[in-house]
Amino acid sequence: MSPSQAALLAWATEAHRDLPWRRTRDPWAVLVSEAMLQQTQVARVVPKYHAFLDRFPTPAACAAASQGEVVTHWAGLGYNRRAVQLHRAATAIVADHAGAVPETLAELLTLPGVGPYTARAVLAFAFEHDAAIVDTNVARVLARRAGRPLRPAEVQAAADAWLPAGAAWAWNQGMLDLGAGRCTPRNPGCATCPVNAGCAWATAGNPDPDPAVGSAGVSGGQSRFEGSDRQGRGRLVNALRRAPVDAADLAAIMGWPRDEARAGRVAAGLVAEGMVVLEDGRFSLAP
Ligand code: ADE
Repeated sequence: MSPSQAALLAWATEAHRDLPWRRTRDPWAVLVSEAMLQQTQVARVVPKYHAFLDRFPTPAACAAASQGEVVTHWAGLGYNRRAVQLHRAATAIVADHAGAVPETLAELLTLPGVGPYTARAVLAFAFEHDAAIVDTNVARVLARRAGRPLRPAEVQAAADAWLPAGAAWAWNQGMLDLGAGRCTPRNPGCATCPVNAGCAWATAGNPDPDPAVGSAGVSGGQSRFEGSDRQGRGRLVNALRRAPVDAADLAAIMGWPRDEARAGRVAAGLVAEGMVVLEDGRFSLAP
């Protein structure tokens, strides 16, 4: 094991955040947690994670429920499309894998909504296979360590190369904690970073520009919610969790009372995605 690998693993044990999905190896629970964590903060996910798994403890229980019910249980998490994808993934797990979350990268990648990050998170966090996850936080760590923006093809390779064999669970959780707590987008804590010795950017004294900016896999942050299409989408789905909505009320419910064209366009997007249906002039959650 290299010095930087040993240093990060030691720090990972010490800095370890005790989070509910870190106490399980149930692949369905890991899949649910990672779907929730993709665009929602840890503190908001914790209570929803428990409630969701109480209602849908297995892929079979989720697949047996209607899509609308799964979307309803997603309330408070945002990005409701993820609930639709999770329901579709559960359905595929039951149909094609006898109800058991598959254990290979290739099979996981065939599941709706499961991309390279989530597939590897399930492999590492549920099955403890040697897989290196790359989300926006990890991609930022890797670019700074390299001291230059990485090309798309380089990022996963850099993550794979740094992974210590046999320690993927602790390693990846440590990388997430490092990205969340030390190697932050602004004002990174390089002085107390366990892997600053091997970091090109820290060693050079954090010169501008930050190599993470524009590096592959590093997001520019979530776009503004206030006034966005996403805000109107969220308002409509929230209303539909309670009751169907009359087409005549659509624009008001979406918060755009004077812009029926926008309301109609954004609602049509939800219909096209299969989250919402329009029947007899009324919108409702797809069954
Ligand atoms: N974000 C995504 N996955 C996570 C995990 N397992 N722990 C903490 N934050 C996360």
